[in-house]
Amino acid sequence: MTDQTIHLADYAPPSYLVDSVELAFKLHPSKTTVTSKINFSANPATKTRSLRLDGEDMTLNWAKINGKPVALNPDASGIDLPESLLGEHFTWECEVEINPEANTSLDGLYMSNGMYCTQCEAEGFRRITYYLDRPDVMSTFSVRIDSDAPVRLSNGNETGSGEGWVEWHDPWPKPSYLFALVAGDLVAHSDSFTTVSGREVALKIWVRPGDEGKCAYAMDSLKRAMKWDEDAYGREYDLDLFNIVAVDDFNMGAMENKGLNVFNASLVLASPETATDLNYERIESVIAHEYFHNWTGNRITCRDWFQLCLKEGLTVFRDQHFTKDMRDPAVKRIEDVITLRGRQFAEDAGPLSHPPRPGKYVEINNFYTATVYEKGAEVVGMLRTLVGAADYRKALDLYFERHDGQACTIEDWIKVFEDSTGRNLSQFALWYTSGGTPRVRVVSEDFDDGTLTLTLSQHTPATPDEDEKASRHIPVAVGLLYPDGSEAVATRVLELTKAEQSFRFEGLQMPPITSILRGFSAPVVLEQKQDNSLRAYLLAHDTDPFNRWQAGYDYALDILADMPAEATHIDRDFLKTMARAAQDSSLAPAFRAITLTLPGEAEIAREILASGHLPDPVAIHHARETLNKAMAAQMHASLPGLYAEMAVAGPYSPDAVSAGKRSLRSRALALISALEPECETARAQFASADNMSEKLPALGQLVAAGKAGAELEAFYRQWRQQPLVLDKWFGIQATRTAPENAVAVVRALAEHPDFNWKNPNRFRALIGAFAMGNLAGFHDQSGAGYALVADWMIKLDPANPQITARMATAFESWRQYAPARQQQMQAELERIKATPSLSRNTAEMISRILGDG
Ligand code: PHE
Ligand code: ZN
Repeated sequence: MTDQTIHLADYAPPSYLVDSVELAFKLHPSKTTVTSKINFSANPATKTRSLRLDGEDMTLNWAKINGKPVALNPDASGIDLPESLLGEHFTWECEVEINPEANTSLDGLYMSNGMYCTQCEAEGFRRITYYLDRPDVMSTFSVRIDSDAPVRLSNGNETGSGEGWVEWHDPWPKPSYLFALVAGDLVAHSDSFTTVSGREVALKIWVRPGDEGKCAYAMDSLKRAMKWDEDAYGREYDLDLFNIVAVDDFNMGAMENKGLNVFNASLVLASPETATDLNYERIESVIAHEYFHNWTGNRITCRDWFQLCLKEGLTVFRDQHFTKDMRDPAVKRIEDVITLRGRQFAEDAGPLSHPPRPGKYVEINNFYTATVYEKGAEVVGMLRTLVGAADYRKALDLYFERHDGQACTIEDWIKVFEDSTGRNLSQFALWYTSGGTPRVRVVSEDFDDGTLTLTLSQHTPATPDEDEKASRHIPVAVGLLYPDGSEAVATRVLELTKAEQSFRFEGLQMPPITSILRGFSAPVVLEQKQDNSLRAYLLAHDTDPFNRWQAGYDYALDILADMPAEATHIDRDFLKTMARAAQDSSLAPAFRAITLTLPGEAEIAREILASGHLPDPVAIHHARETLNKAMAAQMHASLPGLYAEMAVAGPYSPDAVSAGKRSLRSRALALISALEPECETARAQFASADNMSEKLPALGQLVAAGKAGAELEAFYRQWRQQPLVLDKWFGIQATRTAPENAVAVVRALAEHPDFNWKNPNRFRALIGAFAMGNLAGFHDQSGAGYALVADWMIKLDPANPQITARMATAFESWRQYAPARQQQMQAELERIKATPSLSRNTAEMISRILGDG
């Protein structure tokens, strides 16, 4: 394992650069040939002239250097070129044969339901032809596709076509990971966008015939994203054509290939009947994300894969900001923080912890993580908070001006901020290079003679690759309130840079109430002793909506973390506080809905662990149900009214306000259902709803109650031909089935004829959803949940290592559980590890999770 480790410290520039690439594809399902002609020039920045091209899983038919045939012997990962033939400039030509049909890894050139499709990030291009497959080698690409497929696409602009062939040219130099080719029977949903400088860009979303009617929202999102990037970042699109293709078989969400984004169909296709509000929101944000990559990722790319968060963290930050501008910014912030804590904090607290810019990896595909993406975005957000919006924009202008066309590092990025603001950011840079979640503690709040002295300390627990952590530069947004709810001091950003530090607020009339880490100004755990009456006060009065929500959330967490499963006495004040929030019409429905949502089971487990106890997922599940039921009982008189009030009249519209009402209505439905053994309200909603946003939660209630037989059957019959809806059918059963039945239900569903496990969406909908979304089912005492997931990982690994490796994260927190569960999980991990010819992807994950080496 260790000998395959790649270290950032070993980075060396390539010995040659590429001036131009010409590719010719003769597409055939099992025998595609790819001919390449590549002009190389010696890299003036290096002395070595030895050159090795990457290449995997292909047959070399012939090769030429400077037009002369050469006999070469590729090995399993590439080919060494004879140095004596190369010189300052040379032309490499070769023909390879590849088999798209046999490519189940969905990396490189593969087939999805008869359509040809590529995925090259991070290292898929080397499965298409021999190349210097690394992001710091950028070139223009010309592509010819010979195929009788009706539609044949590649990057850039179409430059010619005829019977059975087409040619494309991309004028913008790019690394190979941004190459794309798509061919098949597709239809376009077309539109256009006029850029700020008046250029007209043709926009096309390519889908299978029959899906044309489900592209309108994605197209609308794209146009809003293009406009937003012009307004917010001064970034204009740079080609005459922007293509998006929806594919059914895709490992990730979507891919930002230059001028030809490839999307998981689930993040493009939407209609009121088939997609939920959450689907619409995700489509909007991922369409924007991939579009934003055109500048942050494509025009300025990464020098090497250690710098991945340079493009991903920044682009996630941009898409989050876009969504805030499109929707309710407070609710979006809360959603993002819930995701961050749920995924990234969990990652950081266990064996997979790594810095946003890792120092080493075995398989780069294992580093498309919550830390790189979501924490990477938080780090950008902190920079913006520290320098302010205006200086942030100035810094970004400099970034684009200075680095356009380059492959950059995190150091380049930090330097841009230092140069444009004059600040020293060397301590801040630790956020990129050091892992772990800092804990910020409120040491004391002393009030004396109109002055509050607030003392904060910080400490970052050790992580697998680093024992001693230096103090970070942490922006802590703080506001002060008076007991009557008025604002004593508006939000101020404190810069915590030392292990312990005091801050003074002067001119106060009386001792104030502190509201700390407003807007979640830094990705840290805040340790503050707060009694629950204070939390109730903050939920009612804090002028910062994030902390308002946080107060209610902490209150719930506090109760849940030490609640016996069969609790008979539940804090009345909590119930009253929640009931008041539910009815508070000064709060947006979406905000009320999220406030009434209890912390997730995994979050409760972490809280229990932090308080020094071992969490029992089954007990947590029941405690959460009990609290939910107590909330329902408290509010029972007002719930029907709230449920009726939040009904949205008229035809379905995906706008944020309507979606917010529906989400509060769903929350009301869940509470109502807690008091209805026969689930009559849910059943009626399922029967009458004309949109998926209302159908699915109703079905979820019925499944959770074990009373969904007829509805599941009807749902299946109605939607069996629509894969994305069928995914929901699998997913809701995997996540909502009561834990004691979940393993049996998932096992049975895995035998279903529609459980096409090689399709990543379907695999995730059943096995992934069970492992990550049914905590108590997965952690079933018998160990059967672990065994089930491990069995499927062993089965999937030879076909699709990337998806299998991702599934391994279901086991990342194994050491947090009681010894019996630990042993069961460890045994399954060892069993996977012992599987013959396990992929490098999965092997790396398992060995990191087990903590060996
Ligand atoms: N670069 C893609 C994105 O975040 C994610 C991705 C990575 C897709 C690797 C496919 C393969 O936008
Ligand atoms: Zn991205």
